[in-house]
Amino acid sequence: MSEPEPLLTMAGMTKRFGGVQALRDGTLEVVPGEVHALLGENGAGKSTLVKILSGAHRPDGGELRWAGEPITIAALSDAARLGIRVIYQQLNVIGHLTVAQNLTLGRERTRFGLVDLAETRQRAAAALERLGVRLDLDRHAGDLRIAERQLIEIARSLTGEVRLLVMDEPTASLGEREVERLFAVIRGLREQGIAIIYISHKLNEVFAIADRVTVLRDGQTVGTVRTGQTSEDELIGMMVGRSLGHDLTRESHAGDQVVLEVAGLSTGTGLRDVTFQLHTGEVLGVYGLLGSGRTELARALFGADAIAAGTVKVRGAEVAFRSPAEAMRHGLGFVPEERAQGAFSLLSVRENLSVASPELISRHGWLRPALERPLARRMVETLRVRTASIEEPLARLSGGNQQKVIVGRWLARETPILILDDPTSGIDVGAKDELYRLIGAMTTTGTSVILSSSELPELLALADRMLVLHQGRVAGILAGNELTQHNVLRLAVQGTNG
Ligand SMILES: Nc1ncnc2c1ncn2[C@@H]1O[C@H](COP(=O)(O)OP(=O)(O)OP(=O)(O)O)[C@@H](O)[C@H]1O
Ligand SMILES: [Mg+2]
Repeated sequence: MSEPEPLLTMAGMTKRFGGVQALRDGTLEVVPGEVHALLGENGAGKSTLVKILSGAHRPDGGELRWAGEPITIAALSDAARLGIRVIYQQLNVIGHLTVAQNLTLGRERTRFGLVDLAETRQRAAAALERLGVRLDLDRHAGDLRIAERQLIEIARSLTGEVRLLVMDEPTASLGEREVERLFAVIRGLREQGIAIIYISHKLNEVFAIADRVTVLRDGQTVGTVRTGQTSEDELIGMMVGRSLGHDLTRESHAGDQVVLEVAGLSTGTGLRDVTFQLHTGEVLGVYGLLGSGRTELARALFGADAIAAGTVKVRGAEVAFRSPAEAMRHGLGFVPEERAQGAFSLLSVRENLSVASPELISRHGWLRPALERPLARRMVETLRVRTASIEEPLARLSGGNQQKVIVGRWLARETPILILDDPTSGIDVGAKDELYRLIGAMTTTGTSVILSSSELPELLALADRMLVLHQGRVAGILAGNELTQHNVLRLAVQGTNG
């Protein structure tokens, strides 16, 4: 089959940051009306490659062509003029502005010197319409959940003449329904002849939406294949240069002893009458669609949100955490969904890894680098964090590698009760495997885990039991033979199993 003329050609792109060669031979060709996936391990150079397209980074070398003509993209405005839109990995939505304001930011029309509010609302509504999304235009974006903020970002990028849309992990925090909705939008754009570069670590999505895939490894393009003519195994092989064990199943280490008991829990954030128990060494999965209360449950348990009614007992003793610090003193650990909450971007990888383990690091208030360094090195190695050194500021790491550090912070210490909210979002397939293994290993020493995730296969493989939330309530708790994908989805969607 002959390809149409490429819209975009990137050949032999190179880019260096200080001592790190982020790109050594980035090569990519995209034709109009195709969805082209970009795959590669954390730190492979995917974001760097697309930041060259947006004008955010100037390449050191390589050739860039647009519809056959050599071009340079020196600034964001150059990219915009060509019809290139990039949706970044880090969200760019402003919390204190409303949904409508965020959607029209920088493109406000004025009447008599004032922003035309009615017109602003109308355009914002149209942008959401194009995406098939309903959101209250007057709400502050800061009050929205992360997936909703992401939808704003996508809707905003679809204004004006778009020829190439780049999405850097757009679905990292979306539930299955939102992903379906996004895919419908992407297919619509493809039909209009728009080219789409789609970065994701989720192979099932790549097969569902992409026509072709280009794989990057260590800053170098390994190859481009058609999704119809390849397999997951082949792609993983191209990405990591080795094959991975696929059996995720782990042995259960759940004991009888109850370590956490929640009864009739309600919160101002929408949880209603939540009741469940967590046992020693158990992995309790928590699944629910967007808005079901998954993140709210994790936050309430960790003392990040206030509890309006109900009781929480830790090892039989009633607790009422007023802050995460108090929860930590009682042996709880928490990896939040929005990793930026736990990231200290100016501090080093080593410091970010040890904030959760003060008792390991300091005695009488003194730092104990002798203990801290080996701990940091071990974590960096186990999770394959790609960093020049453990002294590197977190901000210099790729998105996925930053996430590994924040998740690793809690795995580095022995936390009796660990609450993980979507811990593998944005993490590459190889590191996911290591993370699963680590979680499994922790349960053998008695750690209990509440694992909240938007990825059902990962939950089904790891969880001993599954708590399914629907509109803030417990729709059911499944175990044993009842714990099937079908049952979980039915509870999540309908709220009952009857
Ligand atoms: N501004 C920067 N300063 C220093 N190093 C950087 C900078 N941006 C990226 N790097 C480095 O360049 C390499 C490639 O990073 P990049 O963000 O392109 O990876 P990625 O493929 O997008 O990974 P991920 O899947 O984790 O998002 C990494 O080693 C990263 O640490
Ligand atoms: Mg990236």
